[in-house]
Amino acid sequence: PTIAVLNGPNLNLLGRREPALYGTATLADLEKLCDRTAIELGYDLDFRQTNHEGTLVDHIHDVRDRARGIVINAAAYTHTSVAVRDALATVAAPVIEVHLTNVHTREPFRHVSYIAAVATGVVAGFGPAGYEYALRHVATLNSPEAL
Ligand code: DQA
Repeated sequence: PTIAVLNGPNLNLLGRREPALYGTATLADLEKLCDRTAIELGYDLDFRQTNHEGTLVDHIHDVRDRARGIVINAAAYTHTSVAVRDALATVAAPVIEVHLTNVHTREPFRHVSYIAAVATGVVAGFGPAGYEYALRHVATLNSPEAL
């Protein structure tokens, strides 16, 4: 079984991008953390990043039938994209929205998420560990007896 981790715009610059806010871990570090966690949980990982809204929609379409869950940091598109929300609304598997930062302590435009209403749950403010927690939650939802 596969869990997809989808990342949106500017996350390719993690580690070099506003490190005081987003920390020094790179996207490759995040992928390693997700890979380790997925293996421990008995899943394959499909980890992707794009800077383009339509490509993020394509990534959701690519994995929607296969993945047992989607962990998504849509980054800035969280706050703007009806298209990403509509794509996620077609997914039957659990969808976990992740943000490295606590968006609710930041600018008001980051307090609004277009995708939260179609997500199973939202993780924000835990840094890279939030991805790990989201993966663990997907596994728990798929195998509640393992709790
Ligand atoms: C982010 C928060 C968004 O508001 C921002 O646009 C990002 C990253 C986060 O992980 O904290 O690019 O999703």
